[in-house]
Amino acid sequence: MSLRLGDVAPDFSVATTEGPIKFHQWLGNSWGVLFSHPADYTPVCTTELGAVARIKAGFEKRNVKVIAVSVDPLDSHLGWIKDINETQACTMNFPIIADEDRQVASAYDMIHPNADDKATVRSVFIIGPDKKIKLTLTYPASTGRNFAEILRVIDSLQLTAGHKVATPADWHEGDDCIVVPSISDQDARKLFPKGIRKVKPYLRYTPQPNR
Ligand code: BEZ
Repeated sequence: MSLRLGDVAPDFSVATTEGPIKFHQWLGNSWGVLFSHPADYTPVCTTELGAVARIKAGFEKRNVKVIAVSVDPLDSHLGWIKDINETQACTMNFPIIADEDRQVASAYDMIHPNADDKATVRSVFIIGPDKKIKLTLTYPASTGRNFAEILRVIDSLQLTAGHKVATPADWHEGDDCIVVPSISDQDARKLFPKGIRKVKPYLRYTPQPNR
């Protein structure tokens, strides 16, 4: 069965381009983004890994470690990294897992046989410091991901983990948030001293509480 939100992210020990990694130990107290790509030396994947390398500081600022995976071997990853650095205006700065025996791909259900019976699809797992899965995304091989959206989601996940708010459509850091429905108006006024704006009884906004 595929992994669901709230499940513990499966642990694994693997070879990566930055040496052997025991996943949970490597994560430590950080958040994690584990993302798969179909194959090395392919164009969309090349742009994706370059995009993540260029915004690595954005992940670090949020206490997030990123790690990529495909079922290609380590020597292939290491050769491909040279092309990524050459073509994507970056220096690769995060590990790529060599998942030749598909232990990660299987544990995270990253191979979707009706799409491709060998290659991993473009999966994204965001994992909290409690090692539980907070978000999953699945893209087909033909569509490169928007990593600014991954950072935006992490902002929402980290905010809503600590405050009784949710974030509306297209929310970005600094925008007003939604007061969760389980809180009464009276409690909301106490919890959110910057005030609440009540549009409907179920639709109440408050300025972002942690700014
Ligand atoms: C790519 O990364 O460009 C790609 C990989 C597999 C299938 C199609 C595109």
